[in-house]
Amino acid sequence: MPGLANHVALITGGGGEIGSAIALRLAQEGAAVMLGDLQLDKAEATRDKIAAMGGRAESVQLDVASPESCEAAVNATISSLGKLTTLVNVAATITPDGTVETLSFEQWNAAISVNLSGVFLMCKYSVPHLRRVGGGTIINIASQLGHIGVQYRSPYCTTKAGLIFFTKILAQDHAFDNIRVNSISPGFILTERSSKRVGGKDKARKINGPRHLLNRPGEPEEIAAGAAFLASDDASFITGTDLLIDGGYVTFKGRMLPDGITKMI
Ligand SMILES: NC(=O)c1ccc[n+]([C@@H]2O[C@H](COP(=O)([O-])OP(=O)(O)OC[C@H]3O[C@@H](n4cnc5c(N)ncnc54)[C@H](O)[C@@H]3O)[C@@H](O)[C@H]2O)c1
Repeated sequence: MPGLANHVALITGGGGEIGSAIALRLAQEGAAVMLGDLQLDKAEATRDKIAAMGGRAESVQLDVASPESCEAAVNATISSLGKLTTLVNVAATITPDGTVETLSFEQWNAAISVNLSGVFLMCKYSVPHLRRVGGGTIINIASQLGHIGVQYRSPYCTTKAGLIFFTKILAQDHAFDNIRVNSISPGFILTERSSKRVGGKDKARKINGPRHLLNRPGEPEEIAAGAAFLASDDASFITGTDLLIDGGYVTFKGRMLPDGITKMI
């Protein structure tokens, strides 16, 4: 039996690169998958890939900033796939850079409403269904930048740090419901979205790779492997934790060069 047979997963941001890698991996391990995304065409593309490899998947338009949309996506999962055992919160909005003087209140609120309130809402509507089947798993995709703050990026870093802490409280609130709640903090993962900031994937490899102990950016499939583990019974004693899959980004402070000088990053 595959590791996630009889699991039904709802993945927000399931049309994005990391979301779609997670969906494919969970489906490979036997889970049925609902893909929710603001960009329905992307969610449908992931759904079609899963169907082509013989898996079971559906897609739904989802805006995690809207309570009605979150509730509808959870209900669509139950009506089309029968139940919910696993919620994976991947969706995040692209946040602007700036300081408190240059960022508008609307920009700040937009980051909070998608990256943080969106997860709150998805959990709110999912927990009753997870409890109904005797328990389940919630996995929140946070970030290495929820551990290490970066100048001018307060909307992103603050929401991701908040998500790591929200995860810990949710784990406590629902431990007796047999719902395990964990987050994953990826390092720099080579996706279109993250590479755009530095001018493309080649530049991102060069600039961001050396910021990791392993001297390279990560791949979406490496995050998917962690999500599949946390969703499985192999992680049955793991809750309330944050799994850094960051190639040593958070640990890394500098690199010893051949001439013996440590270069600080
Ligand atoms: N790529 C990285 O380096 C990196 C590093 C750390 C953490 N992360 C996190 O991983 C996640 C995925 O990142 P990615 O690089 O795959 O990005 P991506 O842009 O490929 O995927 C994000 C998806 O979320 C969807 N989305 C955005 N707003 C939404 C909303 N309101 N409702 C529903 N869906 C919405 C987008 O349409 C997109 O498909 C994000 O949470 C991101 O913060 C990424």
